[in-house]
Formats: sequence, C-alpha cells, structure tokens
Amino acid sequence: MRALVMLAVGLGLGALLTVVAMNSLRRGTAYPNGVMAVMAAQMGHLDRGIKAGACTAEDLGGHLATLQALGNDLEPAFLPTADDAQFSRFAGDYRAAVGRALAEAPRDCGEAGARLNAISATCKACHQQFKG
Ligand code: HEC
Repeated sequence: MRALVMLAVGLGLGALLTVVAMNSLRRGTAYPNGVMAVMAAQMGHLDRGIKAGACTAEDLGGHLATLQALGNDLEPAFLPTADDAQFSRFAGDYRAAVGRALAEAPRDCGEAGARLNAISATCKACHQQFKG
C-alpha cells in the first residue's frame, strides 16, 4: 500500500515537473522566435514592395521603423549567449544598417534594394555565428 502511494505521488510529481519544464521552454523561445519572425516578415514586405516598384521613403518607412524598433529587442531576447560582446557587435551592425536605410530617402529602387541587401547581410553575419 505504502509503495503504491509513493508510486502515485512520484508519477504525479513527474507529470507536474514535465509541465513546468515545457512551459518554461516555450516561454524561453517565444520571445526570440517572435522577434525573428517579425523581422523576417518585415524583410519580406520590403522585398516584395521594392520588386513591385514601391521604393519611396513613405513606401519603406513603416517597415523600416518596425525593423528599427525590433533592433532594440535583440539583446533582451537572446542574451545570455556564448559571446555576448560579439552578439552585441552584430546587433549594432544591424541597427546601423537599418539606421542608414532610414536616414535618407532612396533615389530609386536600385538604391532601396541595395539598402535592403545591406540589412540582410547583417542578419546573415549574426546567424553565421549564433544560429545553431
Ligand atoms: C545579432 C544577431 C541577429 C541578427 C542581427 C538577426 N538575427 Fe535572426 N536569429 C538570430 C539567432 C541567434 C537565431 C537562432 C534562434 C534559435 O535558434 O533559437 C535567429 C533565427 C532567425 C530565424 C529563424 C530561423 C529558423 O531556423 O527557423 C529567422 C527567420 C531570422 N532569424 C530572421 C532574421 C532576419 C530577417 C534578420 C535581419 C533583418 C535577423 N534574423 C537578424 C540572431 C540574429
């Protein structure tokens, strides 16, 4: 009887701890995954817009503003990493590229596309080292 009670308690505790662990795992990845998912969606909007010839500051500004705001969430979402100083350098490169794209209206779609590529290059640089 006593052994059965202990078994029941053990199973109950095990199930509870599994739920706790799964919830904390989900919480742990939802934030960084969310930041990346919205960044990717905004890059997609920009890419499709530029290819369709929508290349004025007004066309691009809303998406770039969202990308700029998301840039402030890189460290809060991902730290601690294996190398936080390096991560912050990549995050800074990303923020600088978005800042340059926002600073001046592009003269044409070629220039808008080049700025988008410059942002994309900073995504890739960080992924190369930190995305496993
Ligand atoms: C400073 C670092 C950094 C920058 C800048 C960055 N990312 Fe990421 N990104 C990461 C890391 C780290 C991961 C991996 C997350 C994981 O594995 O949990 C990731 C994952 C992703 C994923 C998920 C991919 C998959 O495997 O499912 C997408 C999509 C993504 N990033 C898009 C972007 C885009 C688009 C940009 C630029 C506009 C960008 N990221 C800029 C660090 C960065």
